[in-house]
Amino acid sequence: MNKPTIAGIKSISIEMEVGVYKWCSCGLSKTQPFCDDSHIGTEFLPIEVEITEARRYSWCACKQSGKKPFCDGTHKQLPEHIAYMEMIAMQASITPNT
Ligand code: FES
Repeated sequence: MNKPTIAGIKSISIEMEVGVYKWCSCGLSKTQPFCDDSHIGTEFLPIEVEITEARRYSWCACKQSGKKPFCDGTHKQLPEHIAYMEMIAMQASITPNT
């Protein structure tokens, strides 16, 4: 099986209502973290999730979580995330105090 596309390097936090949702597992959807049928023609299928309690949820965007469809922090180990955090740290260190 091919790896899914990394749609984001941090989770997507959304206040959810009770209902049934389709989480994008392929990473191609333009409506992350939810499926927009961009997976059609790939080997991926959306994961159907029933939300039974209205509250904020942290959805996985890197598509690597061990607790799909929800974030488990795996994105913090991705090279893309590490590079991003290093860039932010470097920018902070070269920004002059005003
Ligand atoms: S668009 Fe990614 S699983 Fe449907």
